[in-house]
Amino acid sequence: MLLVTAANGNQGKVLLPRLMAAGVTLRACVRSEESAQALHANGVTDVVVGDAADPDVLTRAMRGVEKVYYVGPALHPREREMGIAAIDAARAAGVRHFVFSSVLHPIITDLVQHEIKRDLEEHLFSSGMEFTILQPANYMLRHRLRAAFERDVFALSWALDRYQSMVDLGDVTEVAAGVLIDAEQHAGATYELVAPGRYTAHDLAKILSEVTGRHVTAERIDSETFLKATLGAESPTRFPYQARLLRAISDRYSSHDFIGNPNVLTWLLGRPPTTFEQFAQREFDAFTAKKASY
Ligand SMILES: NC(=O)c1ccc[n+]([C@@H]2O[C@H](COP(=O)([O-])OP(=O)(O)OC[C@H]3O[C@@H](n4cnc5c(N)ncnc54)[C@H](OP(=O)(O)O)[C@@H]3O)[C@@H](O)[C@H]2O)c1
Repeated sequence: MLLVTAANGNQGKVLLPRLMAAGVTLRACVRSEESAQALHANGVTDVVVGDAADPDVLTRAMRGVEKVYYVGPALHPREREMGIAAIDAARAAGVRHFVFSSVLHPIITDLVQHEIKRDLEEHLFSSGMEFTILQPANYMLRHRLRAAFERDVFALSWALDRYQSMVDLGDVTEVAAGVLIDAEQHAGATYELVAPGRYTAHDLAKILSEVTGRHVTAERIDSETFLKATLGAESPTRFPYQARLLRAISDRYSSHDFIGNPNVLTWLLGRPPTTFEQFAQREFDAFTAKKASY
């Protein structure tokens, strides 16, 4: 039995069908009944529903499990406690192999969610369980392209001339599935998952212009506007943790590049990783064919 957490999230939605196609016996963990229903409709029969910040939920989720793919939900104010409790619950349940979806460069401690991942990696090293750590760069996310396809604007909440590396979720989940299925081969490894290239927002807008055949412009939105657009008008006061985290991202990515190297991902995939150009073309084709819900 293999447990996947955050199972109806960005990674989970791509990973679960891969694992099911490979015949893996799965358990999924989500917070809401709505997500559980969506997973059931897609053929996932074993779903644990509940707040993973509650240790009882983790205990239930880990029962009878041999391998875990642990993804901590984005922007969760208890991400650190939740991750530590998940590692402890896995060890207590006799899990053999814990695969942790971390982040590229978790040692950058002025990014809140990186510092937490660093601490969780350390806790995992000390757990005595077999482990593999995946460190993805910024995901290539389809929702970030919506404004480019609809309004010819590519918006980011940090400086437009800073360089970033990214990674396609298809590639991340291909590696994750391979690691989970063939876990012994990957025991004790930490893998950086980074696509080729490093891009400023202007570079990305240029690529999107080529893909759409129109002139897409890069536009910076200030972090407060971004915060309100992401979490609602009252968010700076209602969600102080998330506000701190998103402001830290804007500050860090405006003052420094965030880049990595594709060699490890290339080796793991046995082929060149998906580029931003390929991702953008794939998404634009789906958008124009109205196959995807943007
Ligand atoms: N975004 C990036 O570019 C990037 C890059 C590298 C690493 N990361 C890291 O990747 C992680 C996020 O991965 P992701 O985007 O695949 O996940 P995600 O989309 O944030 O995960 C959402 C899933 O988590 C579940 N969930 C949320 N809160 C929960 C709770 N309290 N208890 C149980 N389940 C809960 C949700 O359940 P419901 O559907 O029921 O609500 C949903 O299925 C974060 O740790 C982030 O720091 C992100």
